[in-house]
Amino acid sequence: MNFRPIFNEQAADRVTIHVNGVPVLARAGQTLALALLENGLDHFNVNSVSGKPRLPYCMMGACFECRIIVNGVRDVLACRAEIRDGMVVETQDNCHAKV
Ligand code: FES
Repeated sequence: MNFRPIFNEQAADRVTIHVNGVPVLARAGQTLALALLENGLDHFNVNSVSGKPRLPYCMMGACFECRIIVNGVRDVLACRAEIRDGMVVETQDNCHAKV
């Protein structure tokens, strides 16, 4: 794994989020992108032209490769979103805008 937590495991507050319907443990206060990568999510969205799966790249809000659906809201940047207990996260597998 290329990402290692800098938190003290004993002191970190564990919370549960749901990712594509599966409960996942994460640390309150860490970024959503890090939590998802630590838990092995294989893609966050798909490219709107090629349809190829995408993963975070810059981890600082510049590339938009980490767009994901959080609590029903599309295009949330996972690298800028802080983990909150009970978050419902879905991979953004199509590029069709809601009408
Ligand atoms: S990883 Fe680049 S904007 Fe989130």
